[in-house]
Amino acid sequence: IKKIGVMTSGGDSPGMNAAIRAVVRACAYHKITCLGIYRGYQGLIEGDFEEMNARSVHHIINKGGTILKSARSQDFRTQEGRAKAYENIKKANIDALVLIGGDGTFTGGMVFNEEYNFPVIGIPGTIDNDIFGTKFTLGYDTALNTVVDAIDKIRDTASSHNRLFFVEVMGRDAGHIALNAGVGSGAEEILIPEENLGLARLLESLERSRKSGKSSSIVVVAEGDKTGKNVFELAEYVEKNLPYYDIRVSVLGHMQRGGSPSCYDRVLASRMGVKAVESLLEGKTNYMVGIQDDKMILTPLDQAVKGKSEIDKELLKVSDIMSI
Ligand code: F6P
Repeated sequence: IKKIGVMTSGGDSPGMNAAIRAVVRACAYHKITCLGIYRGYQGLIEGDFEEMNARSVHHIINKGGTILKSARSQDFRTQEGRAKAYENIKKANIDALVLIGGDGTFTGGMVFNEEYNFPVIGIPGTIDNDIFGTKFTLGYDTALNTVVDAIDKIRDTASSHNRLFFVEVMGRDAGHIALNAGVGSGAEEILIPEENLGLARLLESLERSRKSGKSSSIVVVAEGDKTGKNVFELAEYVEKNLPYYDIRVSVLGHMQRGGSPSCYDRVLASRMGVKAVESLLEGKTNYMVGIQDDKMILTPLDQAVKGKSEIDKELLKVSDIMSI
């Protein structure tokens, strides 16, 4: 392997820049060329590449977003799109790809590997932490801190006005952000897709809170929760059933994906970038790098995509006890 291409694809996450930096510098260290591919698979199809060296990635370890930009390419889902991408790869003499993204990115990589037998390694970059084969994805830790900071602020105003707030957080179909940030911000209730406790239990819990003397409350709602109601409908439902509550809704949205990465995410990104490049140099392909018990590990991409990243059941219990 003499030339590696690196891209970020799908929803961006804090730490992606730190991972790009790590890949570029690991390539420089091992004396191979690194090409940055802009806008993920779309840039591969359009031949939007730029050679990068150790100096092109200075002062980006602390930056949110991704300097290579990101996209969810529809064209790469077609055979013609992938053929065009392969043509560009051959023209540029790229020998392998490092793909930084989530399950959609990895699925694209697997299809491409199958069709063209082209070496790929994935780095899990998503705030959702919903990838099997790694305890943490890049950006998750930063997003948790962002959400906790936001909820702390909401708590201030909730308590001044004796209000009940429903706060919707991201996570797609996973409740990791909601559960961890919920416990970390002292939320009274946390609604996650993995554990639908039902609306009756939510009412019960809020009633109990009121009776126990709480004047304000926070309910954290994962965007993928399974109550069958969106966060506004939930708030309306509770308002109807418990009219003494003055209720507001806050949807945190895309601010959860921004910001300077935490130290944890920067270190993780650096380790993952090095592991990705060195794995390719060892002839490995079709794997994702991950962290387990503080060690870098490899998981086959198909398992990373198909497997489930389980929610921490102990944390559910802790949350329950804390909201007494
Ligand atoms: O996967 C990251 C994520 O931020 C999810 O939490 C969210 O459901 C989705 O992306 C939002 O996607 P978009 O940026 O396309 O609105």
